[in-house]
Amino acid sequence: MKILVIGKGGREHALASALAASPRCTQLFCAPGNPGMGCIGTNVNISDSDTEAMVQFARQEGIDLAVIGPESALAAGMADALEEAGIRVFGPSRAAAQVESSKDFAKEIMKKYGIPTAAWHTFDDAEAARAWVQAQGAPIVIKEDGLKAGKGVTVAMDLDTALEAVDAAFAQEGGRVVIEEYLEGFEYSLIALVHDGLVIPLETAQDHKRVGDGATGPNTGGMGSYSPVRKITPEILEETMKTVMEPMAAALVSEGVPFTGFLYGGLMLTEDGIKVIEFNARFGDPEAEVILPRLESDFVEAILSVMDGRPVSLQWSPKTCHGVVLASTGYPAGSTKGAPIEIADTDAQIFHMGTRNEDGQLLTDGGRVLMAVTMEDTLEEAFAHTYRELDSIRCPELFYRTDIGRKDMD
Ligand code: AMP
Ligand code: GLY
Repeated sequence: MKILVIGKGGREHALASALAASPRCTQLFCAPGNPGMGCIGTNVNISDSDTEAMVQFARQEGIDLAVIGPESALAAGMADALEEAGIRVFGPSRAAAQVESSKDFAKEIMKKYGIPTAAWHTFDDAEAARAWVQAQGAPIVIKEDGLKAGKGVTVAMDLDTALEAVDAAFAQEGGRVVIEEYLEGFEYSLIALVHDGLVIPLETAQDHKRVGDGATGPNTGGMGSYSPVRKITPEILEETMKTVMEPMAAALVSEGVPFTGFLYGGLMLTEDGIKVIEFNARFGDPEAEVILPRLESDFVEAILSVMDGRPVSLQWSPKTCHGVVLASTGYPAGSTKGAPIEIADTDAQIFHMGTRNEDGQLLTDGGRVLMAVTMEDTLEEAFAHTYRELDSIRCPELFYRTDIGRKDMD
C-alpha cells in the first residue's frame, strides 16, 4: 500500500515510523514531512493545510491510505477533501474535528450526553467574563476558544492572573473565552482509534504541559511524556472507555458528525471520578512518540480494521517508553530558529519536531525541536536512559525539563 502521512512534527514522525514498520506499507510519503521523516519515507513539499495540492498529489500517486497528523489540517477540511476525491483517509471531517477546534461545541455535547467534565461558561463579552471570574474566585481556568496548540489555557491560581488572562483573550479580535472550574487530580491522556461507534483504545500516556521543572511556568504543547501510566490501572482505563470515550464517539454519531481518526481524551482522575479536560481530534504530541514505539501489532492493519468496523486486539510491549522534548530558547512565548544541531551516536530514538536541513546542516526551526525517546523495563530505568542520551544532542539554543515522569515514580 502507498501511505501518505500529513504533517511535519514529532507526532507525524512517530506515525510515519509506526506505519512504515508494517509489511502492508510498500511506499511512504510525508507531506510536508521533516528531516527525520525524510529518512523513513519520501518528503513531498505540500503544506499540511493545502487541500487542493494534497488531493492532486494523492490522486496522481495513487495513495491507498492517508493519515492526518495535525489539527490545522483537520480544521482546513483535509479529511473531507481527500474523502471527496475517493482517497481512504484516517482523520475526522472538519465538522467532527470541532471536538477540538471549538471548546464550546465539545462542552455542549458533553453536557447533552452526560460525559463528565468541568463546569464551564462561555463569554463573548469581556466585562461579563471579568465579573464571572470575580464572582467565582480562584483557582479557575481561562481558555481561549479555537486552536491554540495547547497554549491558550491559563490555569490561574489567583484572581489577578485570571483577570489578566481574560483581558489578554479579549485583546484579540473576536475574543471569546471558556471559563472553567479548576479540576484537581491526576492527569493522563487516552487516545483511541475511532470509526463511527467503534472505539479501540491505545495505551495511556502522561504529557507534561508546563514549560518548567516541577510543573512551573506557562503551558506549552508538551515538554515530555511516558507510557504506560502506572497509576491508570486496567480498571480505570475500562471506566474511561465506558464513561468517556465510547459515549463521546456514540454522541458524535447521534449528532450527525461521526468521527473517524484518533480521538484524544485529555483526562483528570479526580476525587469525584474521571473528568474530561478536553478532547482532541488527533493523536497527541508528545504522546505519539512514547505510545507508538510500544505497539507490537501491525499499525496499518489496525487502522484498516477499525475503518472497516472490525474490532482489533492490539499487542503492546510491557516496557515503559519515556521521552524528553528539547525546545528552543524562548519557547513557548517565542522561539529562536536557525541554530545548528549536532546529533552524535545515540541509541535513543530521536523524533524531529521542528527542524530543517540547510546545506546538509540540521537547524532548529520552531518551538519544540527534537524529542529523545528510550524504552526500558521500568519508568525509572527509561528516565535515566533518556537523560543520559541527551548528552549526544548538541545545540546552544535548546533546553529541556529534567523531571519528565518523576512524579509517577515510586
Ligand atoms: P487544554 O489545552 O484544555 O488541554 O489545557 C491545557 C492544560 O491545562 C491541561 O493539560 C491541564 O493541565 C490544564 N487544565 C486545563 N483545564 C483544566 C481544568 N479545568 N482544571 C485544571 N487544569 C486544567
Ligand atoms: N500533548 C497534548 C496535545 O497534543 O494536545
